[in-house]
Amino acid sequence: MRLRMLVDALLVSTPVVLGQVTFEELKPVFDGLAQKSQELAASEDPRLEARVPLSTDDPTVAPLVDLQVFAPPVVPQDGTWCEVVLLEHIFGDGSFGAPAVVPYSPPTDADCGERGKWAAISLNLTVYSIGTQYDRLGVIYLSQTEIWRTSSAEPTKTGTVWTTLKDVTHFTPLFEQDGTVKMDFSNIIDSSLLLDGVFNVTLTATFHAPTESFATPKTSDFIIPLSNLSPNLTNYFAVDTDAGGTTNVTLPETAIEAYVELLVSGNAAEEFWYQNAPDEFVDAFSTEAGIIGKGPFREVQILVDEKLAGVVWPYAVIYTGGITPSNWRPLTSYGAYDAPTYWIDITPFIPTLLTEDTVHNITLKVVGQGTNPTFNSNWFLSGSVHVRTGTSKTTGRITSYDVPDLNIDTVGNVSAKNATVWTKVTGSRSLNIEGELQTSEGTKKVKFSQSLTYVNEASYADGGWIQTTNQITIGTTISTHQGVQVLRDAFTYPLSVFSNYSLYDMQFGGYGSEINQTHTRALQPPTGPSHMIHSVQHAKGFIGMDDWPGLRHAINGTGATDQTFAYVDERGATYFRDVATKNDGWVRDNVWGTLRDANPPVPANQIFGDQGGPGFRRSVEPRLFRRGRP
Ligand SMILES: *[C@@H]1O[C@H](CO)[C@@H](O)[C@H](O)[C@H]1NC(C)=O
Ligand SMILES: *[C@@H]1O[C@H](CO)[C@@H](O)[C@H](O)[C@H]1NC(C)=O
Ligand SMILES: *[C@@H]1O[C@H](CO)[C@@H](O)[C@H](O)[C@H]1NC(C)=O
Ligand SMILES: *[C@@H]1O[C@H](CO)[C@@H](O)[C@H](O)[C@H]1NC(C)=O
Ligand SMILES: *[C@@H]1O[C@H](CO)[C@@H](O)[C@H](O)[C@H]1NC(C)=O
Ligand SMILES: *[C@@H]1O[C@H](CO)[C@@H](O)[C@H](O)[C@H]1NC(C)=O
Ligand SMILES: *[C@@H]1O[C@H](CO)[C@@H](O)[C@H](O)[C@H]1NC(C)=O
Ligand SMILES: *[C@@H]1O[C@H](CO)[C@@H](O)[C@H](O)[C@H]1NC(C)=O
Ligand SMILES: *[C@@H]1O[C@H](CO)[C@@H](O)[C@H](O)[C@H]1NC(C)=O
Ligand SMILES: *[C@@H]1O[C@H](CO)[C@@H](O)[C@H](O)[C@H]1NC(C)=O
Repeated sequence: MRLRMLVDALLVSTPVVLGQVTFEELKPVFDGLAQKSQELAASEDPRLEARVPLSTDDPTVAPLVDLQVFAPPVVPQDGTWCEVVLLEHIFGDGSFGAPAVVPYSPPTDADCGERGKWAAISLNLTVYSIGTQYDRLGVIYLSQTEIWRTSSAEPTKTGTVWTTLKDVTHFTPLFEQDGTVKMDFSNIIDSSLLLDGVFNVTLTATFHAPTESFATPKTSDFIIPLSNLSPNLTNYFAVDTDAGGTTNVTLPETAIEAYVELLVSGNAAEEFWYQNAPDEFVDAFSTEAGIIGKGPFREVQILVDEKLAGVVWPYAVIYTGGITPSNWRPLTSYGAYDAPTYWIDITPFIPTLLTEDTVHNITLKVVGQGTNPTFNSNWFLSGSVHVRTGTSKTTGRITSYDVPDLNIDTVGNVSAKNATVWTKVTGSRSLNIEGELQTSEGTKKVKFSQSLTYVNEASYADGGWIQTTNQITIGTTISTHQGVQVLRDAFTYPLSVFSNYSLYDMQFGGYGSEINQTHTRALQPPTGPSHMIHSVQHAKGFIGMDDWPGLRHAINGTGATDQTFAYVDERGATYFRDVATKNDGWVRDNVWGTLRDANPPVPANQIFGDQGGPGFRRSVEPRLFRRGRP
């Protein structure tokens, strides 16, 4: 119960969040994790096999299998299915700002199941890369609607491959129509920067026909993108002002329910937003340390005709080049290849969106702690509205709108000669929006509420080169229609980062970090099964650099990451994984639970054993790795 102790420690004197994940609710997670030895005893020990002599300077080894841990999609076991290739593309020179765009048509083969009546649709994104490359953001759109936000490994010179599977059944209304598949994987090939790794992408979709035991699930009827709608450019809003990004929307007049799914990520000066310092204290740091201001708190807002309809306090996805790159190969941080998404119920606003007096719109915004703009450049925001329709025009009104201001409080102190700086930011917010709708299914009383709390405590030394951040974000989103719960998102996201850049500016210097990050979330999405995810990660690494002055390069490094992961859903599907990597190699990979075979452990020949791999090294050729701060 380390999680509870951490939560208690950070939440002293902060408000209680109602509707949180209870420890009774987490019981299947802990019970499942406890079954590890029992289930694994029956399977072979994957550690017995030969080692791969992996080193970034060794051109002879097999590709490194790299991954983000995920629970595989739950699909019928007994029916027919078909797999179609949606996209094959090499993102190399010239791919920056130039997405791949191909036409899409629903599959017609009988094995796929009747068009639009699929039991499940899952995607397989597999990427191969060889050489040197930064982590790059990847975004997949179906008909200008974002369906997947991913990113890349920092590949090895011997080749790196990674596969991620994702359930996209809730996008059925888009998959049943002709459209386009677009992927933006903006990459840069530049010999002067030693960047030569291209991304060879294969994206496939598997369509499953329904069976007696696995029926066609209820999904929305209609999906509206919240995006810039460009036919050939990336579709998210790249937001760097307080105005955010706005989409004009026209709802079908028979709309009964409308839910927004959001994808959000901080980029450039906002990639490590949770480590940004409050403006009141930035002068205390040496400018070379590169501490960024505007504070560590961020809220993503969704507004309907400029009225706040809901908020997201995002989970911090750390990409593979983040903070200390050697921490994240070959095991990434949770969310790196499949970013979490967030749901807001805007059903109370359906009557507003159906009034005929004006063009209606939905705006996505970021709010930080600075002034004009309140955050740095920039955030990538997009989403989709999932609408269920009835048979007659919907009318109604918002009956209660209780949306008090966000509470944010910043305190801190600076010791003599700015030797140490301590800051603490606390935030809380609750909102409750109710509506009454007259629909073809009768009267619907809708109640949408959110309750969130946040603490970020940071201490700095050595002019800002040494930083410790302890952050926790806890929240609950609950929506009921006529008293029936239709959406619940109860989450706890603790994050601790110690980063040490003291020797960053020295000849043969280096930098390192230690990170603990947990993602505990009980999610009942508007369509699809309720499930629980519990991921606990610990990473520690150091990167050594070569000569100074001039362009410095990472010459060697160490990194060790371990993770415990659990997925449990209301259908009884489970997936548990206990993994560890060290110095570019797999130490152990144990998988159990009902979904094990759909996403098994890495091949035995990838396992190095307790000491991990040799760590990355550069002997002759210089190689560039990304520093932790932009
Ligand atoms: C995913 O796709 C890759 C490449 O197309 C393939 O090699 C792999 O077997 C697929 N994995 C699953 C689980 O379907
Ligand atoms: C890209 O991947 C495909 C499918 O695995 C393979 O056939 C092709 O040779 C690869 N191309 C490059 C340049 O790696
Ligand atoms: C993108 O589409 C717009 C509008 O159709 C067109 O004017 C423009 O030339 C296209 N750009 C590229 C790079 O294809
Ligand atoms: C949205 O609607 C407003 C009002 O009609 C119009 O001025 C604006 O150009 C529209 N925006 C887009 C992106 O179509
Ligand atoms: C210490 O910080 C203050 C602001 O808090 C700043 O005005 C001052 O220049 C800093 N002094 C040093 C020596 O960095
Ligand atoms: C969004 O709609 C509101 C209400 O009609 C309008 O006042 C506002 O100007 C619109 N915003 C944009 C960016 O079009
Ligand atoms: C700043 O405040 C923290 C928390 O109260 C305390 O632990 C620390 O000693 C203080 N530092 C200085 C220099 O006042
Ligand atoms: C991470 O957790 C480990 C184990 O609980 C602890 O020893 C370590 O100090 C933590 N590190 C950070 C940066 O929180
Ligand atoms: C920072 O890293 C350097 C180099 O490894 C080390 O000498 C120093 O003790 C570290 N500082 C802290 C506070 O851990
Ligand atoms: C990295 O290289 C430096 C300089 O040659 C050396 O002092 C250090 O021990 C090496 N570190 C590792 C982890 O190999």
